[in-house]
Amino acid sequence: MRLHFLILASLLPLLMSCESRPTDEQKIYTPANASAPVLRSEWDIALSEVITQQGLTGNPVRIPPPNINDPKAQLGMLLFFNKALSGNLDVACASCHHPLLGGGDNLSLSIGVDAADPDLLGHGRVLAGNQAPGVPRNAPSTFNIGLWQQAMFHDGRVAQVTDGITTPDTPFPTVDALAGGNLVHAQARFPITSVAEMRGKQFDPHGTAQSCRDSLAGRLGGYVNTPKALQKTETRYWLDAFRKAYQAPDASPKTLITEQHIAEVLSEYQRSQVFVNNPWRAYVSGDLEAINAAAKQGALLFFKGRDQGGYACVECHRGDFFTDEAFHNVLLPPIGPGKSLTAAEDQQDFGRFLVTQREEDKFRFRTPSLLNVEVTGPWGHNGAYTTLEGMVAHMLNPFNGAVYYDVAQLRQPNLQTQHLRENIREMLRSDSDLSGQTYQEQDVRQLVAFLQTLTDPCVKKAECMAKWMPPADQQDPMGLQLNARFER
Ligand code: HEC
Ligand code: HEC
Repeated sequence: MRLHFLILASLLPLLMSCESRPTDEQKIYTPANASAPVLRSEWDIALSEVITQQGLTGNPVRIPPPNINDPKAQLGMLLFFNKALSGNLDVACASCHHPLLGGGDNLSLSIGVDAADPDLLGHGRVLAGNQAPGVPRNAPSTFNIGLWQQAMFHDGRVAQVTDGITTPDTPFPTVDALAGGNLVHAQARFPITSVAEMRGKQFDPHGTAQSCRDSLAGRLGGYVNTPKALQKTETRYWLDAFRKAYQAPDASPKTLITEQHIAEVLSEYQRSQVFVNNPWRAYVSGDLEAINAAAKQGALLFFKGRDQGGYACVECHRGDFFTDEAFHNVLLPPIGPGKSLTAAEDQQDFGRFLVTQREEDKFRFRTPSLLNVEVTGPWGHNGAYTTLEGMVAHMLNPFNGAVYYDVAQLRQPNLQTQHLRENIREMLRSDSDLSGQTYQEQDVRQLVAFLQTLTDPCVKKAECMAKWMPPADQQDPMGLQLNARFER
């Protein structure tokens, strides 16, 4: 049996390549930059129809992003990599969103405060005392973060509304007057207030989110008394850096080093992380050789409707940014500690429901963008899938994916899975937004080949990413800059 299957499988590519021989109707096409004419295959012809229908350009950038060399983006980079923004001086934003880890952390569930070794990233990152992770969700990539127009976070709790931005600080969906000028600014004010991510249990333990932000800013500027006060040389270092970025040589720490300015420069830095120069874009712009045959077949499966032999992934992963920015229930296996409104519901993460309180929003999560998805694993809002193949197979048949989910793939110790079966049963009683389909193994391979064409080569090269990382030999006086070591 197995042997027959193998023989058939090894013949398949041959059979496919016969099919791919150009026919007479196929037009000869000469890309502007090619020396010889290129034959358009049947896949190229079908894809050019899809591309026209969907109005794709390959370029999702609508508003010019900040440049990483701008003074504010540079200051944002220093802060993004500095542990001074955490209560116990042990976590930086980059601890969970590192440019060399796809803008994430390579973990299913993030580890913030109380890491056994705060400077170690990747799979070696564990909690002191081997505790189970307290952060309930997977760290999304900060790459292309400025391209979101509707919502931040897996459940969209920071979101654009008609007259501004709503955040967890104001009742949904009312506007938060302190949210700042864009979604990324609004988002940057929250990680520092989260006990498990950056704040820790000891910093301003009885305060509000706002008092925590103000205290952290005041500690950085040396004008508020807090636990773990910074040395004079350190507050001087930050004062000089803020004065330079804001071109305000005489401004006082109190007016300059504010929680709003911290969020603003973090946003400038993150929004400069635009990585959209991928082979798919080159292909859409006319370079027919930018992607291979498997990727072209995968693209057709991705874009074509079910009535045309495709899987209609594009229904949700829409447009050049590959997301509708809406919320769907695709039955992702509920591993992890869960995130709920009451202790009784613990171990389950109801996603969008936690924001809207609407029953139909249970288990809905924001559709991720698929740009650079190859490097942003583990996948799903809780990192339940540790291979892209597994994630794609799940999207082809979410019901089976949930029922037959294999916890053995998890590479992180102590992830909570003890309630997985009952959580899955409860989830399967909800209405999924995606029905299962039968598929071939080959479809998974082709879809993955297509998704890999959405990777900007820059994100895989340390030299290319160096611009987004502060030089390791230029430490702040207290040495709080995260110069990470990696165990992948
Ligand atoms: C402990 C790890 C950790 C740290 C530290 C951390 N984050 Fe995150 N970040 C996460 C996780 C997990 C999420 C998703 C949370 C959710 O959706 O509920 C997230 C979400 C985000 C998002 C939203 C991404 C999206 O696609 O919507 C941005 C932007 C972001 N973080 C930036 C930052 C910044 C800026 C800092 C530092 C001030 C920071 N993060 C610190 C883990 C971390
Ligand atoms: C009904 C809308 C919908 C359709 C159709 C859909 N997706 Fe998704 N996709 C989502 C949502 C929502 C998530 C996030 C789920 C979560 O985190 O719980 C997701 C997650 C993913 C991820 C993981 C991305 C990441 O960063 O973690 C991949 C890969 C993916 N989808 C690929 C596909 C492919 C391939 C298809 C077609 C076979 C497809 N999707 C069809 C809505 C959809």
